[in-house]
Amino acid sequence: MSHQFAAFASRLADAAGKAILPYYRQPLQVDSKGRTGVFDPVTVADRAAEAAIRELIERCWPNHGIIGEEYGTIRADAAYVWVIDPIDGTRAFMSGILSWGTLIGLLHHGEPVLGVLDQPVLAERFIGEMTGAVRRGPHSEARLKTRRGVALADATIWASSTITTKPELFARVQRLAGQARMLRYGSDCMAMAMLAEGHIDAVIETGLEIYDIAAQIPIVTGAGGIITALDGSTALHAGSILATGDRRLHQAIRRVMNEPGAHSR
Ligand code: IPD
Ligand code: CA
Ligand code: CA
Repeated sequence: MSHQFAAFASRLADAAGKAILPYYRQPLQVDSKGRTGVFDPVTVADRAAEAAIRELIERCWPNHGIIGEEYGTIRADAAYVWVIDPIDGTRAFMSGILSWGTLIGLLHHGEPVLGVLDQPVLAERFIGEMTGAVRRGPHSEARLKTRRGVALADATIWASSTITTKPELFARVQRLAGQARMLRYGSDCMAMAMLAEGHIDAVIETGLEIYDIAAQIPIVTGAGGIITALDGSTALHAGSILATGDRRLHQAIRRVMNEPGAHSR
């Protein structure tokens, strides 16, 4: 990748993977952050990975800002701000299910410019800039390209299970499910990677924070996909997002999703 910080982002992902792997599928204490009264798990692996990433940023780019899920925000008004979700999919991670990954995004003057999604067990790294995206394995690199030209009736859609806790939105997504080939709940970041790789046609998420989405925007956009809020506005600060392989499917899904009364967050 050509972005000046792409190699550094890969170093961050290496450090995170090294911190996480010793804990995967091992007996593990799981705490709940309990910020919203619902189960919101965090483990020593989440904390160790974010600490390792932050330590490297502080050492190499002390003027850069950091927004991290577990350890908060510093220098948010810096020109470059790293946005970190050390384990996206902690519920899957603690269950030994491979839908999780580390998300590392980079904002330049508030705009996403670089995103890395790292899956250390699979040794797969999805790297995106707004103009292109690749999947890098230990011995190979392939350009990421979304699947295009798929009608809603033929679409494979993944949605976050958080949707099932929001009755009105859930009802609208269920209606969408009736019009698609398949809609499956329970996606974490790997669903977005598979959208970028052309195996999934749409991903719908809700309840997102900036660290859930910042890295995904360059990956999906760079692969040729469309990612926005459910109302079509910018995805970065949206709680609810829709990502699709192409614009036509995006419009078709939004028509169904945004009928009167739909939640925008
Ligand atoms: C979760 C994942 C999931 C989304 C949830 C998030 P976490 O992140 O991003 O896909 O549906 O809303 O909380 O908590 O595992 O980092
Ligand atoms: Ca997350
Ligand atoms: Ca997380």
